[in-house]
Amino acid sequence: MGRSRWSQVLPAVAALGAGAVVLSACGSNSLKEGAGGSTAQPSAGAGSAKIALLVPQSGTYAPLGADMEQGFRFYLEQKNGKLGGKTVDLQVVDEGAGPETGVPAAQKLAQQSDLSAVVGIVNSGVALGVRDVFDQAKLPLVLANAGADAITGARKSDYVWRTSFSNSQVSGAMGSYVAEKTKGGSVYLIAPDYAAGKEFLSGFEKTFTAAGGKVAGQELPPFGKTSNYQPYLAKIKQSGATGVFAFFAGSEAVSFTKQYKELGLAGSIPLYSSGFLTEGGVLKASGAAAAGIESSLHYSDQLDTPRNKEFVQAYAAKYSEPPTVYAVQAYDAAQVLDKALEKGTTGDQVVEGLRGVGTVDSPRGPWTFDESHNPKQAFYLRKVQQGPGGTLVNAVVRELASP
Ligand code: PHB
Repeated sequence: MGRSRWSQVLPAVAALGAGAVVLSACGSNSLKEGAGGSTAQPSAGAGSAKIALLVPQSGTYAPLGADMEQGFRFYLEQKNGKLGGKTVDLQVVDEGAGPETGVPAAQKLAQQSDLSAVVGIVNSGVALGVRDVFDQAKLPLVLANAGADAITGARKSDYVWRTSFSNSQVSGAMGSYVAEKTKGGSVYLIAPDYAAGKEFLSGFEKTFTAAGGKVAGQELPPFGKTSNYQPYLAKIKQSGATGVFAFFAGSEAVSFTKQYKELGLAGSIPLYSSGFLTEGGVLKASGAAAAGIESSLHYSDQLDTPRNKEFVQAYAAKYSEPPTVYAVQAYDAAQVLDKALEKGTTGDQVVEGLRGVGTVDSPRGPWTFDESHNPKQAFYLRKVQQGPGGTLVNAVVRELASP
């Protein structure tokens, strides 16, 4: 599987709006038993562990789910299919386009008493909707993307851990830089109208205004239904804003970036973003329209460290494409479960293991879980420019101060 997932999803999403596009993720959707059917209990000494990967295989974020599955499997294959010495039986379950599909899918998994952990979830709305399900079932959930702030804040749980980021952490890292760049002007904010979009904007606004930045206005286009950003971009143009800060991901990121260029904003109003706007297949699909976009993220495949270079080389050799942040987050989820499952396969044993994970040797750089189970990690300022091979890449400009 390579970049073709983008050519599959883009026209379909444009045509269907919210889009019930079903992409097969590596042909590996192997839900072997009906969720909820089994009564077997996990046992510490046993030689196997059942893990479910809950990622979108349809909707705006389907390509992100495919990247996550690839990243998780990459680690697993390096370990000969074992985590914590136990042979992993992996089920891949569709999160779908949002909470209306993701929450029931998680509820079914939580009834499956032989699971040692669930990994995945892209959408913050799904994460917020399932937090109590995992907490009550005492089933470990390792979030490998969804950044909802409360999950590792006010609503933290012993059973919920995150190998990705919190939404306001990513966008907050960009605030003082954009305030400095747009001194004397004002910045327009735009993101899809759901939990993550709002948190990315409020996280940015907090550090941006604290550093003296001025907000020109804000737009929240409907999530999963918007393919025409023209009305929003026209408003931004008219506002006289001297910068734009955006969060979009998946197919929405491609539509937004292309239209930003088509309507003449690129080149005249600098576009700043969280790195998801220019990540992986999105950057490839956006092409020249993305040139010059600056973003903050905790990863770039361009990171110049021995650990990352080795990782990128091995990953690209296997999949014929560089890894994305989504792949790395899921790869790290497999890494932490590798350590955690050494303690056993019951929920409480896995949680005990997660508490003792220590420093994670990640391609993004070393990180640790904070007291709320969110990564303490570095953020990088990235800029889309021509790489050595002539393709556009997210060049790493420098490290940003963490909010
Ligand atoms: C989220 O909903 O938390 C989310 C989705 C896609 C991203 C980042 C965050 O790329």
